[in-house]
Amino acid sequence: MALRSMLFVPADSERKLAKGLGSPADALILDLEDAVAPAHKAAARGSATAFIAEHAARLQTQLYVRINPLDSGLAMQDLAAVVVPGLAGIMLPKTRSADDIRRVAFCLDALEARAGIAPGTVRIVPVATETAQAMLTMASYTRDVPRLAGITWGAEDLSAAIGAISNRDADGSLSPLYTLANSMCLCAAAAAGVPAIDTLYADFRDAAGLVASCAVSRRRGFAGRIAIHPDQVAVINEAFSPSEAELAHARRVVEAFAAQPDAGTVGLDGAMLDMPHLKQARRTLGLEG
Ligand code: COA
Ligand code: MG
Repeated sequence: MALRSMLFVPADSERKLAKGLGSPADALILDLEDAVAPAHKAAARGSATAFIAEHAARLQTQLYVRINPLDSGLAMQDLAAVVVPGLAGIMLPKTRSADDIRRVAFCLDALEARAGIAPGTVRIVPVATETAQAMLTMASYTRDVPRLAGITWGAEDLSAAIGAISNRDADGSLSPLYTLANSMCLCAAAAAGVPAIDTLYADFRDAAGLVASCAVSRRRGFAGRIAIHPDQVAVINEAFSPSEAELAHARRVVEAFAAQPDAGTVGLDGAMLDMPHLKQARRTLGLEG
């Protein structure tokens, strides 16, 4: 299922939860982690669970929950509460390597059985670059990692982990460590055969900036993006959907190869096309992942 836009909704806010119901986001991420203060963690957990139980069945939007990190002492309580029918997936923050995914997947095996959910239903999206160790274990993402629905990355927690004063250089551009994290997310997702989901665009009042940033992101290979404010969702959906012109071109590429089934390369409009172009065109048309 598409994950063009994933909107974070702090699960301790009834108002934001209500607003999330009307959002065209492909997924809502009911947040139990950083958007929720320690004193509100338990209440947020209850609200997220009740929200899924009440609304999942009639929503198009997939419902994910961002649990607390595995080493927080809260993750198991989070998981035990939120695995109810209708839960689409878990976002796992501060993932250290694919071993963390396997651990959560193992817990989900049991929790799904308890909840009467078909095995393997609940997917996992790790935030894969939030710790220093995670940056050194990105090679652990392969097609053997269970339950993966996508991989995303973050620049904020990593800079805190490193002890950086900022994740930006003096000219405002991302420092090399964080452009590396962005690129590693793309590679890890491709290696695992799942979509790469770009990190948030913090300035949620700057729609033009978001449009420009999403265009860059999509060119680089991201398939979707995190949103932190409802106003960002339509922009992101649009940016990560193929345009009519792209669809038309992709159809022509597929047709050109279909017309010459034995050819490894074909010519179209004076350009040479080979298998990577066909793969890209089929992906644009939704014919392969
Ligand atoms: N999900 C659902 N509804 C949201 C929302 C969100 N992420 N962000 C804002 N809204 C709602 C507001 O409640 C408000 O609704 P209302 O008119 O019914 O009260 C409306 O959208 C407009 O909000 P606005 O006044 O523009 O923003 P704000 O100042 O209330 O909130 C933030 C700004 C950044 C605090 C808020 O967008 C937010 O909480 N974002 C998510 C943060 C998060 O989850 N971070 C963790 C991941 S990094
Ligand atoms: Mg964080």
